[in-house]
Amino acid sequence: MNLGCIPREEVPDVLCQMPKAELHIHIEGSLEPELIFELATRNRVELPYQTIDELRAAYAFTDLQSFLDIYYAGAGVLQKEADFFDMAWAYLKRAKADNVVHAEIFFDPQTHTARGIPFETVIGGLDRAIRRGREELGLSASLILCFLRHLSEEDAFAVLEEALPFRDKFIGVGLDSGEHGNPPEKFAGVFARCRELGLRLVAHAGEEGSAEYIRHSLDLLKAERIDHGVHCLDDPELVARLAQERIPLTVCPLSNVKLCVFPTLSAHNIGKLLAAGIVATINSDDPAYFGGYLNRNYTATFAALPELGAKEAYQLARNSFEASFVDEGTKEGWIMELDDFFSRRC
Ligand code: ADE
Ligand code: ZN
Repeated sequence: MNLGCIPREEVPDVLCQMPKAELHIHIEGSLEPELIFELATRNRVELPYQTIDELRAAYAFTDLQSFLDIYYAGAGVLQKEADFFDMAWAYLKRAKADNVVHAEIFFDPQTHTARGIPFETVIGGLDRAIRRGREELGLSASLILCFLRHLSEEDAFAVLEEALPFRDKFIGVGLDSGEHGNPPEKFAGVFARCRELGLRLVAHAGEEGSAEYIRHSLDLLKAERIDHGVHCLDDPELVARLAQERIPLTVCPLSNVKLCVFPTLSAHNIGKLLAAGIVATINSDDPAYFGGYLNRNYTATFAALPELGAKEAYQLARNSFEASFVDEGTKEGWIMELDDFFSRRC
């Protein structure tokens, strides 16, 4: 498609209006400070912050772990099925406003089951919101259960066991939390079991960790998609492999700057990833903590990187559909809608 006809000044509007998928969003990372306070009051949970502004002021992170400490503490206000519903419903409405037509949403059950919240409460609220999103917003969404990599593989097997009675409510598993000292191979057994069960497999790798974590996620976990993966550029052979095998990366630019993976957005390597032929996508990761939802990730990144224009906007949206875990017919339908959108803008 010839996209040269779209003037540069129209690109921000195109980014916001184009249909797209979001493939890397932690639902607990969509918990806004306002909702944290509301749920704390509702559930009589004591917070170490007096005001919303005080809480927001704590969102000055120096690395992944400094964020995770606050993020896991924030999730402590989630107690009842209705709390999980409210959190997910708020995200889905925001995603709809950003013209997201499909979302694959991570959740961290161990953060909740470790506090005595039954798995059923967590997945019940999230699933109810997703079903309402489908009916009322026409938004397609599914859940991916993440294992916390700072915990043991035995713990991961235990949560998988708890999750299996709800197998129809999630499509796959992922691996998140702190990378350092928690390599992919620690979870090879549980990922092999999930593969046998027909679950889709993804893993965070190469966010703070090295390119080797990405290679091991592919080879030892059989991950089909890599979350972040930005450190692949340190390894030219790996870059060639990712491009050749069309293994998608779910990149999260605002997150990467907030967690000091890159010093600024203008230093981000998403343009280089696309230029290398990698199926890179843009996502929000933990939007309540990192300064914006999906459209803000797109517009801020494009504003900071002059090499990105209408062609890359189209490519990123197309990649988001290609990288999703829906059937081929549904993907083709969304890509046709995307093509229609761009031809109408020309
Ligand atoms: N959990 C929530 N956000 C995360 C991130 N950016 N990296 C690893 N684990 C996470
Ligand atoms: Zn993430």
